[in-house]
Amino acid sequence: MGNPGKTGRPPRLATRFTELVGIEHPVVQEGLGPYKVVALAAAVSNAGGLGTISIPGISEEPAAGARKLRAYIEEACTLTERPLAVNVPVGADKTGAVLPFSAAYIGAVVEAVRDAQIARRLRVITTSAGPPGLARALIEGAGLIHTHKVGGTRQALRAEAEGVDAVIASGYEAGGHTHARPVSTFILGASVAEAVTVPVVLAGGIRDGRGLAAALALGADAVAMGTRFVASHDNTDWNPAYGQRIIDAREGEDVVFPAIYGPSRALPSEGLSELLRMVDAGEKDESKLTRFKDERLIRGQRDGDMEQGLLPAGQVSGAIRELVSVADFLPGIVAEAISVLENVQRGVVR
Ligand SMILES: Cc1cc2nc3c(=O)[nH]c(=O)nc-3n(C[C@H](O)[C@H](O)[C@H](O)COP(=O)(O)O)c2cc1C
Repeated sequence: MGNPGKTGRPPRLATRFTELVGIEHPVVQEGLGPYKVVALAAAVSNAGGLGTISIPGISEEPAAGARKLRAYIEEACTLTERPLAVNVPVGADKTGAVLPFSAAYIGAVVEAVRDAQIARRLRVITTSAGPPGLARALIEGAGLIHTHKVGGTRQALRAEAEGVDAVIASGYEAGGHTHARPVSTFILGASVAEAVTVPVVLAGGIRDGRGLAAALALGADAVAMGTRFVASHDNTDWNPAYGQRIIDAREGEDVVFPAIYGPSRALPSEGLSELLRMVDAGEKDESKLTRFKDERLIRGQRDGDMEQGLLPAGQVSGAIRELVSVADFLPGIVAEAISVLENVQRGVVR
């Protein structure tokens, strides 16, 4: 653990995850698709965490989507010298083959790291949705650290057996795509940390240094946040109305609805009601539903349309009260976590 104050340097928490990725703080800003989050990802990496670039949606024509992702990666690399990640949700068809959009996005990442300037920064690929084994063959040999997001202990064991370098365990309270089996962060963190030997990043409901301290106490090596980072001054690619909506959210206002790869958690909106009416009316055209979702997600993120947009956000939105500046927030939560852990050790509990 770090030693705040004694060296004059900002406090540090070195963990297996910070060592693996080569970052200063055990804090990840996770995938926040589909609109671009390049500025935020670079800000998190510049502040010593790991920022993640997201794919531009799954209804894009694969080659066009891959070009857009490459442009995001190149832009992010102009904004930071530090390690970055890309998140690619991996879907499979009925035969078990990786879906064309996932293959195209992974291909874009693998191609990008052939450029030494990009490879120096783009260190991590985070897969989510389907099992990581599907994507291993496409990723192996590219020199990338492979992390995979899971919502259960069995999935974590499977991801480890399939060769990932770290798992992101995300609890049911998380924003965006959550899991078919509702296991909360508090339970999942300890279970996954007990089960696997690779580093564990815990996500779902974390917003401050107390959450980071709790995650470390449960056996995790880092935390990942989504909703907390959306409500940030550094999320300049998005319309500010989105962050404000998170700040205005009341506890318990978030809802879970059937989404692309399973259930998703969002704040209510007319756009969500419209989607639910389409599903209730028996709309089965998957590509129509997917286009609707991507389009309405982008309307929320890019245009700030809090009525017609879809607004993924975690339970934690009810507890977020202000926008943060990433450059202060990251060292701040590390200092807070260290102080919480030291106070607990000394028996000084408020
Ligand atoms: C607006 C929004 C968009 C998201 N988009 C993605 C995505 O494209 N891919 C993904 O794997 N997870 C996505 N997530 C989930 C996050 O990566 C992360 O797991 C989650 O936000 C963690 O929980 P928290 O919101 O409580 O911090 C999204 C979450 C939010 C809030």
